Amino acid sequence: MSASLLHAVPASSGAGAFSSRADDPRHLLGIAGLSRDSLLEILSAARRFRDSWRDGVRESRELAGVEVGLAFFEDSTRTRVSFDLAAQRLGARTVTISEAGSSISKGESLLDTVRTLGAMGVGLIVVRHRSPGVPSFLARHAGVGVINAGDGTHEHPTQALLDLLTLSDAWGGRFEGRRMAIIGDLSHSRVFRSAALGLRTLGARVVASGPATLMPPDLEALGAEFVPTLDAALDGADAVMALRIQRERMEDGLLPSTSAYARTWGLTTERLSRTRPEAVVLHPGPVNRGVEITSEVADGPRSVILRQVENGVAVRCAVLERCARAAALA
Ligand code: NCD
Repeated sequence: MSASLLHAVPASSGAGAFSSRADDPRHLLGIAGLSRDSLLEILSAARRFRDSWRDGVRESRELAGVEVGLAFFEDSTRTRVSFDLAAQRLGARTVTISEAGSSISKGESLLDTVRTLGAMGVGLIVVRHRSPGVPSFLARHAGVGVINAGDGTHEHPTQALLDLLTLSDAWGGRFEGRRMAIIGDLSHSRVFRSAALGLRTLGARVVASGPATLMPPDLEALGAEFVPTLDAALDGADAVMALRIQRERMEDGLLPSTSAYARTWGLTTERLSRTRPEAVVLHPGPVNRGVEITSEVADGPRSVILRQVENGVAVRCAVLERCARAAALA
């Protein structure tokens, strides 16, 4: 965490009125610490939102009068737009801030910026930041509800929830005994960490594979099992998720080239034949076509990539509503 965040913490602020216990429903900081019941509750709330949209009811008033800050300090299109749409579909108002163009570029600490928004009445902040731990820091000290939209290489809980909803649809709601293969740059991937934790909580088996230089040291603590080849990971899988090669988080020398990566680890139609015939293919986006996945697979009949996007809005509605209710905003 950067010094500018830390020096701004007043000496008096301890855990305070706004605690940041992992399961405090005023915040969503990560999948770690969320119980199986909490996960299933969020998924069924998300399903209800999705069903009502499919019935043609796209707007509701659950969050009428609630103001939601979207604080994105890292690039994002789909996650930011997805939260924005989710908040608006529930009748909330949103304000967006980013580092460029805000007082943070004048030296204000992030904590002061968020407290300032809180003083204006913003009750929930959705935050994406390159430093792991920023959302839980804000949850402890800022006096608003905090939703983690991705903190560095740590967690991306709403992405995991949308992955779980998509898998639940594909698997008829049963996670126990399912085999999920996750392939790629796992060491830089908050998507992987959150997904692995959620899948383990719901009883699925996570098989992880990718270049040895891109494997995190705590794979087993996350409940995942390492297999050394793509073919071994895909054998009998009920679903496979390809992760993006994260050039922006990668130190030099961890990969020889993207074309070498594609040859060894890229998902192709031929390789997919090792999975179960009904297995689905996920990708969090943005997709590097021809690197981690071919266009034929990304656009093919097994791909549920656009369902993930649709489910993203629904799980974000469920999370916003849960946090707003717990913080007595709605
Ligand atoms: C992911 C992220 O930002 O962590 N993308 C997303 O939220 N849709 C994955 C990625 O950037 O590769």
